[in-house]
Amino acid sequence: MADAVGNKVAHNYYLDIPQKQDTYFVKGMNNTDWGMKDRLSRIFNPKSGNTVMLAFDHGYFMGPTAGLERLDVTIAPLCEMADVLMGTRGAIRTCIPPVYNKAVCLRATHDQSVLFDDLSIGNGFCTDIEDAIRMNASAIAMQCFIGGKGERDSIENLCRAVDMGNKYGIPVLGVTAVGKEMERNAKYFSLATRILAEQGASFVKTYYCEDFEKVVAACPVPIVIAGGKKLPENEALEMAYNAIRCGANGVDMGRNVFQSEHPVEMMSAIRKVVHEGLTGKEAYDYYLSEINK
Ligand code: 5RP
Repeated sequence: MADAVGNKVAHNYYLDIPQKQDTYFVKGMNNTDWGMKDRLSRIFNPKSGNTVMLAFDHGYFMGPTAGLERLDVTIAPLCEMADVLMGTRGAIRTCIPPVYNKAVCLRATHDQSVLFDDLSIGNGFCTDIEDAIRMNASAIAMQCFIGGKGERDSIENLCRAVDMGNKYGIPVLGVTAVGKEMERNAKYFSLATRILAEQGASFVKTYYCEDFEKVVAACPVPIVIAGGKKLPENEALEMAYNAIRCGANGVDMGRNVFQSEHPVEMMSAIRKVVHEGLTGKEAYDYYLSEINK
């Protein structure tokens, strides 16, 4: 057991000292191979350092979520505006034409469906790395249930995916799944994101919360935020802005885009925040001007 006597209790995140990046712009990825870096550079824009990912993987456990009843009708027209398409192999192969030349982040885990109370039990790694390569995936996404009953299985799955990804130069996105009983605060998200990064995830997806700059500082790889449940557009843009201001390297949003009445304009406004540094308010004004054209 670690010596508890004399341990420092106050945390110091050195918020004024950015993590050193010697030769490559993606946080923590200096020491990876060329192929891994090439794929990461398709995900993170080398100019802004950030990414706009479009998440439409919800059907893998929720079925036809509102806005995703017809992926070919609602998602395909948005693909041009995304940097990364995040979905399952089934969704992408069947409904997304292979013409956009966008990075693909392949959802490679299965969970229990929403018919079960605890989604974390029985999760698994369901996509062979060779199929990910066949789909020209730039990353694979693995869900982890830190603090949930399925924690151990999901971390083992993540580790297997990291091993396979390292073999072929494919980065792994670690996704922090939040159980109903878990508090969505910086303490929990720092723990969850740090565990995923330490187990080898090349970037991590989590939720925005208060003190988010501490979550970002303590995670040695880039963080992208999920959008969560649909918010009014101005609030969703403000959240994206706050996350970027705190050091996140992008968004991986779903419902706040495809459930918007104006998803194209919403995507466009999100891009302004993530890549051009607009504030939430500026981006919302831009959104309004676009929908009133
Ligand atoms: C679920 C996911 C989803 O892709 C994620 O929740 C993003 O979608 P949304 O912005 O709708 O929350 O990873 O685990």
